[in-house]
Amino acid sequence: MKISVTTGAAEQQKTACLVAGVYEGRKRLDIEIGKGLDELFGRALKSKEFSGCKGEVLLLHGVNKGGPERVLLLGLGKEKDFTLSDLRQVASEATNILTRKQLGSFVLTLAQVAMKKAELGEKVQAIAEGLLLADYNYDRYLPKNRPGQPVKVSDALLLLAPGDDKHVAETALGKAEAICAGVCLARDLVNAPGNLKSPEYLAMQAVAMSEQVNIKAKLLNRQEMEKRGFGALLGVAQGSQRDPYLIVMEYNGAKADEKPVALVGKGVVFDSGGISLKPGEKMDEMKMDMGGAAAVIGTMLAAARLQLPINLVGVVPAVENMPSGTAIRPGDILTSLSGKTIEVLNTDAEGRLILADALTYVGQYQPRLVIDLATLTGACIIALGNQAAAVLGNDDKLIGQLLKAGERSGERLWQLPLWEEYAAQIKSDFADVKNTGGRPAGTITAAAFLQKFADSYRWAHLDIAGMAWEESGKAGRPKGGTGFGVRALVEFLHGECA
Ligand code: BES
Ligand code: MN
Ligand code: ZN
Repeated sequence: MKISVTTGAAEQQKTACLVAGVYEGRKRLDIEIGKGLDELFGRALKSKEFSGCKGEVLLLHGVNKGGPERVLLLGLGKEKDFTLSDLRQVASEATNILTRKQLGSFVLTLAQVAMKKAELGEKVQAIAEGLLLADYNYDRYLPKNRPGQPVKVSDALLLLAPGDDKHVAETALGKAEAICAGVCLARDLVNAPGNLKSPEYLAMQAVAMSEQVNIKAKLLNRQEMEKRGFGALLGVAQGSQRDPYLIVMEYNGAKADEKPVALVGKGVVFDSGGISLKPGEKMDEMKMDMGGAAAVIGTMLAAARLQLPINLVGVVPAVENMPSGTAIRPGDILTSLSGKTIEVLNTDAEGRLILADALTYVGQYQPRLVIDLATLTGACIIALGNQAAAVLGNDDKLIGQLLKAGERSGERLWQLPLWEEYAAQIKSDFADVKNTGGRPAGTITAAAFLQKFADSYRWAHLDIAGMAWEESGKAGRPKGGTGFGVRALVEFLHGECA
């Protein structure tokens, strides 16, 4: 979808559809579009077909000649409760409706969405994100022109209100486009099927992304990791025929001596569980176990496109977790890159093993802070469902900033405690630490494990297990990979630049 910004009168818009939001309780529409519209609107109010409640939709035809062919009214709910997340959501719903109705293009008027707490730029960004996030589907393995296949909206015009600064709106639009390019790349990577998606494939995609923009990418292969002692990562990789890679991406938007922000993403391209094999049901979804990696790669792309004045390093340990004659066994003891030994009690707790080495590796950058993202624990889905990712870490200020960025971006995070008492659950009799802490507080003990490898810098961990994959498909969250994390991270990084 191509989005542009325009000014002018609504009634002069030659479009298949004019889209406008309507707050609950409005008696008139203030859209200058001839007398006809208010009369039709009044009738819809009277017949209770439409009242402006959140989620309501009204499509009107024959409003005036020469202007828009239709008017699509979207209920916004109560004005005082309306947030930027709601606006994003409404825009996503608009995309879905217009796609279903096969109306190739539309004009969306901003004049009706007055919001006290939001500036023009924020509104335009939220609308554009909502439109673009809904305008995605993973159809590369489907035949072209399949009957019933949605016809995409090709053009959207955002019609500014009188007095709105067009330059501000265009800047915000560019920001949304960069962010959504990152989100959609992340979704593509998550949706790619496991047969295609080897660790090497993920590495090649990261290299290709880096070549598109101003990012330096380098790869460590198995031999190099053996030489350096990535024992925990290589332990997970040893059950698979496919070679592991450590993917390192560097973006320099600030002075060379400025310490970077480091992002680390779990890149398990398929998690069968290994010898501690997972049950068969829904095992197909475990191709999404690189959702953290996808978020890091997508965020690197967005940050570079936005030319953020910051130094960033993205690290992705990419492996496949498979059972085989060469796989690690429960009871094995691995020596990690940090030198700490790890007793592997469950080969399905593999994410923390590869992250341990990646977290040690980023230490060499002397990062000013480190954020890791991982589809790490099923327990996180038990705790928070599919509404928020868990955030834990060793620095409450950093966590506070992330919570705020999550709220603003519409990607919710929720803090879980990381009290030192939890570490007792991962004490091993035979090694420095064991890789499972039993059933109680599974998300927290996983973070407590990571903390042992993240003790030399400010660090936060996002468990995105419940957020990386959308099972049913919602407006702005099509079925499959969600690209979760990119928007919250970019929002956070914007704050870091200020
Ligand atoms: N990748 C899984 C976690 C997961 C489960 C992500 C469901 C998304 C959806 C992770 O590697 C895993 O298997 N974790 C185990 C840890 C346990 C063995 C300590 C889990 O959560 O069961
Ligand atoms: Mn696992
Ligand atoms: Zn996993």
